[in-house]
Amino acid sequence: MNLILLGAPGAGKGTQAEVICDHLGIPAISTGNIIREALKNGTELGKQAKSYMDEGKLVPDEVVIAIIKERLAKDDCQKGFILDGFPRTVPQAEALDAMGIVIDRVIDIEVADEAIQKRLSGRRVCESCGASYHVDYKPSKVEGVCDKCGGKTVQRRDDHPDTIKERLHVYHEQTEPLKGYYEKTGKLKIVEGQEDVKDTTALTLKALEA
Ligand code: AP5
Repeated sequence: MNLILLGAPGAGKGTQAEVICDHLGIPAISTGNIIREALKNGTELGKQAKSYMDEGKLVPDEVVIAIIKERLAKDDCQKGFILDGFPRTVPQAEALDAMGIVIDRVIDIEVADEAIQKRLSGRRVCESCGASYHVDYKPSKVEGVCDKCGGKTVQRRDDHPDTIKERLHVYHEQTEPLKGYYEKTGKLKIVEGQEDVKDTTALTLKALEA
């Protein structure tokens, strides 16, 4: 199963990717996580991406396409993968096609902009392993401590209100057109994001079977 998760920032792509990846036994690949890791390690890629990310803008297509090309060539992707946060522009989708990659299903998780603001401002992520929590919807067992690795959970730099606004603007302008792109292929399924993570998971798994 080669799967794409589409959706606005904070729609719950990463949260659902984590569940589906366990369910299907295939890796979840988040370009956002790869870029944040590069930033943390002070690599050239991290330096290039920093200002775009901090401002809520997209990292240039050629940079992200190169990242995905390298990642999808790894052995663990041979039986399938979940793409979370890629493609995000029509040229990125065209680049995937040009790589000869056949996508089986595209799930678009839809959540209203007003709900996104609440989700992102309450999100906390583990500094060490990247696991994601929410202060109300998905709290860690001990406040500020990651359930998985015991690392410290913090707010992401781009989860501040002004940056969230810009990310939503960029989403509507540059990423939303991908719905039309994949609708034409007949592989698009829409999932209405629910208040409860488990309810969204149930709908997502159903959309995968359909
Ligand atoms: P990225 O890391 O991909 O961020 P994003 O797409 O903006 O998505 P998020 O990670 O913010 O949200 P999500 O949909 O995964 O939601 P989550 O599950 O965490 O990208 C960051 C930046 O990197 C971009 O701005 C760009 O600069 C760059 N970048 C990355 N990919 C790129 C690309 N392809 N091209 C160019 N640039 C790129 O959930 C959010 C919160 O809500 C969590 O706290 C969660 O617990 C909670 N939650 C989830 N589901 C529910 C639910 N059902 N009910 C209640 N709460 C929920």
